[in-house]
Amino acid sequence: MRQQLAEIEARALAAVAAAASAEQLAELRVAYLGKKGELTAVSRMMGGLSAEERPAMGALVNQTKDKVEQALSARMAELRQAEQAARLAAETIDISLPGRAPQRGSRHILSLVQEQIEDIFIGLGYRIAEGPEVEYDYFAFEALNLPPDHPARDMQDSFYFSERMLLRPHTSPVQVRTMQKMQGELPVKIISPGVVYRRDDDATHSPMFHQVEGLLIDKRVTFADLNGTLLAFARQMFGEERQIRLRPSYFPFTEPSAEVDISCFNCGGAGCRLCKGTGWIEILGSGEVHPHVLEMSGYDPEACSGFAFGMGIERVAMLKYGITDMRLLFDNDIRFLHSF
Ligand code: DAH
Repeated sequence: MRQQLAEIEARALAAVAAAASAEQLAELRVAYLGKKGELTAVSRMMGGLSAEERPAMGALVNQTKDKVEQALSARMAELRQAEQAARLAAETIDISLPGRAPQRGSRHILSLVQEQIEDIFIGLGYRIAEGPEVEYDYFAFEALNLPPDHPARDMQDSFYFSERMLLRPHTSPVQVRTMQKMQGELPVKIISPGVVYRRDDDATHSPMFHQVEGLLIDKRVTFADLNGTLLAFARQMFGEERQIRLRPSYFPFTEPSAEVDISCFNCGGAGCRLCKGTGWIEILGSGEVHPHVLEMSGYDPEACSGFAFGMGIERVAMLKYGITDMRLLFDNDIRFLHSF
């Protein structure tokens, strides 16, 4: 019987050591220690032993059972540990790898310049008005003193959808829309930034570009007010030493009309490549609102007067930041866009 026990023990311990899973260990426990297990069977044979032999054999059987029991628990612990180690290895995150830095975007240069312009005029008490990009002929031309067949319409060769609708070629229609909305109330004091469209396409013209319109109507608004306002703007935008000059010009919706130049901020007026040697840079069109334009939108030219102006945002941005090709503004080359 001793020999049998020794043999079972050896077999059990070997089997336990070789077990590769919790299920296999459970099966081994049943096979050796279960009700019908081999060691249980040996215990049962104790009945056939003499009273002297029994205590020693009993102790030996128990020892053997304990050993097998311990081996099972030890192997179980080993397997658990191995399983955990494997899981940890599979789930490791290498925190020493450098992360992928999020790409920081930046404002588009045109948005920045538009905001600068807005800030300056808001500081002067102007309000921002908006209008649609798809516009009626009436607002884009007629109510601005450009009746059908007016030759000045050709200055703004436009994109038409139909006889009556087009992509607006300037922000001036917002003047008309604002006057109509305000129904004769004074003062009217707005700027209107936005997208406009024309059939132009070269280094200094894009078929889609941006303008800011300005309109002030009140009692006795004069050319001196226009001059002072635009001088204040020019100085805040391009530097305190700037001067402006008004040159006679023509726009159907203003009378008189003026083209406005600022003294060159590159050379200070001495003449350089930027100002083409003249010392002056043209930045916008302007004038006193034509009495007929006031009248058509419900304002009495005897009781009030106003000035208006329109300027290209791309042009201001290009001048201020030394950009030589307008198309760069719309190419969406990240290297260019990030450089401001
Ligand atoms: N609308 C004109 C253009 O796009 C610019 C302009 C000139 C606007 C004179 C005005 C103005 O309000 O008074 O060429």
